[in-house]
Amino acid sequence: MARDVRAARDGVVLRLEQGGFVAAEEEADDLLAAADGDGARLDALVARRLTGEPLAWITGRTEFCGIGLQVDPGVYVPRWHSEALARRALARLPADGLAIDLCTGCGAVARFLSTRRPSARVVASDLDERAVACARANGVDAHLGDLFDPLPPLRADVVVGVVRYVPAPDLPLLQRDTLTFESPLSYDGGADGLAILRRAVAGAARVLRPSGALLLELGGAQGDALGGDLAAHGFVDVTAVVDDEGDVRGVEGTLG
Ligand SMILES: C[S@@+](CC[C@H](N)C(=O)[O-])C[C@H]1O[C@@H](n2cnc3c(N)ncnc32)[C@H](O)[C@@H]1O
Repeated sequence: MARDVRAARDGVVLRLEQGGFVAAEEEADDLLAAADGDGARLDALVARRLTGEPLAWITGRTEFCGIGLQVDPGVYVPRWHSEALARRALARLPADGLAIDLCTGCGAVARFLSTRRPSARVVASDLDERAVACARANGVDAHLGDLFDPLPPLRADVVVGVVRYVPAPDLPLLQRDTLTFESPLSYDGGADGLAILRRAVAGAARVLRPSGALLLELGGAQGDALGGDLAAHGFVDVTAVVDDEGDVRGVEGTLG
């Protein structure tokens, strides 16, 4: 690395460390790459990051399950903790099957599924037009509207969703800066966090084939609370989706 580039990098790392960013070295590398050798641009990008704006909005890129994705400002940045759910959805999707990705955001889960099952059909929905545009830019067949409403009539093998599930009273407890930049539309699950999850269960029961799979991200204790809805809509073999560290990340059920 040339001396002036190293000096610029050291300066960015220091500013990020002083701003309390724990992954300062990695972030500095991403910001330097996005600035592409333009010092003034680098300063502007670092200044944005120091306000707490998501790194992916500044660089325009992120990774999910090893796949590079475009992320536009305002669009939810996919989280690593959703990868366990996406991998379970992949495991349940036949090679020529059909999957629905509810609340697709930038299209991370849908894009992962269609990359790994190129002969499958994957359709997606989101209520936010910035998200739909971003998902389409990522090659996803994304539709604008509420849950299943904007989708064509179809029979699915898999319904997967990283829907909003944070109980409204807990929204102020989200990590620093979250709602300074991101929309409650990505988080607010109503009084008990289950409002969208319940509608997703009911809708999935209408569109899934028998033996089709429903996979929904949720918080640890919400699986039990959703159990009654899953049973009432005919889902059997309901299990928790657990990540590599043993944390519950979602629920999986099969339409009986
Ligand atoms: C937590 S984000 C998840 C995005 C994406 N699945 C991911 O993991 O990166 C939730 C997304 O749901 C969208 N959304 C919220 N309510 C919705 C609804 N009723 N129907 C469709 N999309 C909705 C938001 O715009 C947001 O993009």
